[in-house]
Amino acid sequence: MKVAVLGAAGGIGQALSLLLKTQLPAGSELSLYDVAPVVPGVAVDLSHIPTAVDVKGFGADDLGAALKDADIVIIPAGMPRKPGMDRADLFNVNAGIVRTLAEGIVANCPNAMVGVITNPVNGTVPIVAEVFKKAGIYNEGRRIFGVTTLDVIRAETFVAENQGFNVADVKVPVIGGHSGTTILPLLSQVEGANFSDEDIAKLTDRIQNAGTEVVNAKAGGGSATLSMGAAAARFCLSLVKGLQGEDVVDYAYVAVDGGDAPYFAHPVRLGKNGVEEILSYGELSAFETKAKEDMLATLNKDIQEGVDFANG
Ligand code: NAI
Repeated sequence: MKVAVLGAAGGIGQALSLLLKTQLPAGSELSLYDVAPVVPGVAVDLSHIPTAVDVKGFGADDLGAALKDADIVIIPAGMPRKPGMDRADLFNVNAGIVRTLAEGIVANCPNAMVGVITNPVNGTVPIVAEVFKKAGIYNEGRRIFGVTTLDVIRAETFVAENQGFNVADVKVPVIGGHSGTTILPLLSQVEGANFSDEDIAKLTDRIQNAGTEVVNAKAGGGSATLSMGAAAARFCLSLVKGLQGEDVVDYAYVAVDGGDAPYFAHPVRLGKNGVEEILSYGELSAFETKAKEDMLATLNKDIQEGVDFANG
């Protein structure tokens, strides 16, 4: 299994690479790419950890070698938010980065599973999809995933706190997109939970704005990196299991034909071809139905921005 991390020297990239070095199956190869000159050092540093995962670092001019024949590519390259910014403010800088990296994937590992972390995820995933379409390797978007796992793990944490549950047992579906109100936790589906209307309003708002909680607490020093590293590692390991033939269901922002929007986070069955099946997210409460209807205009606008950028 070869896993490439693009943007590996950044806050998320380093946390993710550390977790992959310690958690990928023995015999895997971890390929670290970044335009920052520190990336060979990150690879040397990780290579001293005694696991059977081979780590190599690749600098700005070596994207092709970093990606060559990768099975999985995870992309946390690009600028994070500062206080006062929302994710859409990142589009102008990050859209071009994601397009260049997607072109590298087309040229070097067209069959790889691609997990996009770079914000705004609502718009960067359609950019990768458009690049794949132009190259004729799109395959209904089955290998392209917006990584929304951070929303899921935050929801698990906050629900466990609120209900006094053991967090290891909590499952919270989160659908929609990955910014503000487009993030929709389905609290009505949490088994054994008993929420007041006030709990539901407060928890939904906290899950939707948890990224801003971190951005403000870091006071200009960036956005979530450690929790995102953990989330990305969890999702990457789901992709690994799928490729190894295990039956895995996880949440991700994927292309959906005839769905609520052209891209929407759903539970998906993962396998050797990427998305083997898009599963239904089930019944929504009245609160969730309204929240979903209210967010669609924003989500569709974010998606169109990505499509227009890639084709413009
Ligand atoms: P960071 O600034 O610490 O790291 C970004 C890294 O990307 C840097 O090392 C930089 O050199 C590298 N980079 C920039 N241009 C590149 C290129 N063309 N090719 C390869 N590498 C390149 O930022 P951080 O905190 O790691 O965040 C990265 C991205 O992840 C941001 O866009 C942020 O908004 C997003 N993010 C997404 C989340 C999600 O839930 N999907 C959660 C948190 C952050």
